[in-house]
Amino acid sequence: MRMVDLIEKKRDGEVLSAEEINFFIQGYTKGEIPDYQASAMAMAIFFKDMTEQERADLTMAMVNSGDTIDLSAIEGIKVDKHSTGGVGDTTTLVLAPLVAALDIPVAKMSGRGLGHTGGTTDKLEAIAGFHVELEKEEFVRLVNKDKIAVVGQSGNLTPADKKLYALRDVTATVNSIPLIASSIMSKKIAAGSDAIVLDVKTGAGAFMKTVDDAKELAHAMVSIGNNVGRKTMAVISDMSQPLGFAIGNALEVKEAIDTLQGKGPKDLEELCLALGRQMVYLANKASSLEEAEEMLKEVIRNGKALEKFKVFIANQGGDPSVVDHPEKLPQAAYLIEVPAKTDGVVAEIVADEIGTAAMLLGAGRVTKDSEIDLAVGLMLNKKVGDTVKAGESLVTIHANRENVEDVLAKIYDNIRIGDKVEAPVLIYGTVT
Ligand code: URA
Ligand code: CA
Repeated sequence: MRMVDLIEKKRDGEVLSAEEINFFIQGYTKGEIPDYQASAMAMAIFFKDMTEQERADLTMAMVNSGDTIDLSAIEGIKVDKHSTGGVGDTTTLVLAPLVAALDIPVAKMSGRGLGHTGGTTDKLEAIAGFHVELEKEEFVRLVNKDKIAVVGQSGNLTPADKKLYALRDVTATVNSIPLIASSIMSKKIAAGSDAIVLDVKTGAGAFMKTVDDAKELAHAMVSIGNNVGRKTMAVISDMSQPLGFAIGNALEVKEAIDTLQGKGPKDLEELCLALGRQMVYLANKASSLEEAEEMLKEVIRNGKALEKFKVFIANQGGDPSVVDHPEKLPQAAYLIEVPAKTDGVVAEIVADEIGTAAMLLGAGRVTKDSEIDLAVGLMLNKKVGDTVKAGESLVTIHANRENVEDVLAKIYDNIRIGDKVEAPVLIYGTVT
């Protein structure tokens, strides 16, 4: 087999076989196929697309390029949740204990990553003592015992994706549905869960700016998952404004605690229930999505979800008393209000720019070696559709520096006050 023939085939819009896709991916991972040929193939795929079978084959070729995690020592159906990324997305912190409270195993591998705030691991480390460095045996033991554990990333998962993603980044081939879908799904499948719930975001703070694009990506990922034997469902959700009120690491832990007590922001709660009910359903714990949602609401009402969060924290070395005393979380030195300049209705809160404002305070990493300040961030006091009077606070800045002119300017530039707005949509649909 020669790579040049495969490029030509895809360039002419033909369908590649599983064997041909494997030849490309394994050859590229080993360095036997050079970047220039892989670039040409990525561009051919960008223009000619792939069939559902090709997408599934590409995904599995990338899964098989490196290590895979074996969760078979954990009893029950392991359901993972993945979000395509957004601003102030506190859902994992809520969903992990919420779902585990229904005896569904949550065996999560989590990274730090770049972005407006840290990843789930960073957020959890805002709790004194909490750590994710667990040996495999301990990880499995904790999930079997208490149905929940989070472990830091280890092993060499999907090296083909790492290499190809970096190449796509510099060859204008990131924005291709078959390439994005296979990239994301390969990582999820290598991480070993039996079923996957996807939260595909749309809007300013998301990778997919329009609802149609988000739907197309969701369909592509659900089809890949189901084609390779992992039950997969997706929710399309709004990321035009940040999710919930909190954007920042310790602030989001507090927000998760509030939500597990049934007094969190409405949008965060609604999205957690929409994702959670799919997780419960895929884990075969409920016979309908409606029943699953009722079960989730019940463990919020009766305190079991909150109790599970405490057990989870204590199991991983953290201080569980933060749940009843969130003031023990890292606190910023300065709280600075951002008063509205006019009366009106909040018409827009541009998610990605507001996320950048949080990052300017130190809530997220600019490069992978940046230090995160776990205490800092933003608390939104108003969301899209809320009425506001001049002088009322739009946002509270939690800062560890006194001068926040840069952050203020960014916030004022990206919160628009108008006359009247349509109620914002949170969930645009589900894909099964
Ligand atoms: N995120 C990924 O992991 N891969 C892509 O290709 C795009 C976004
Ligand atoms: Ca939030």
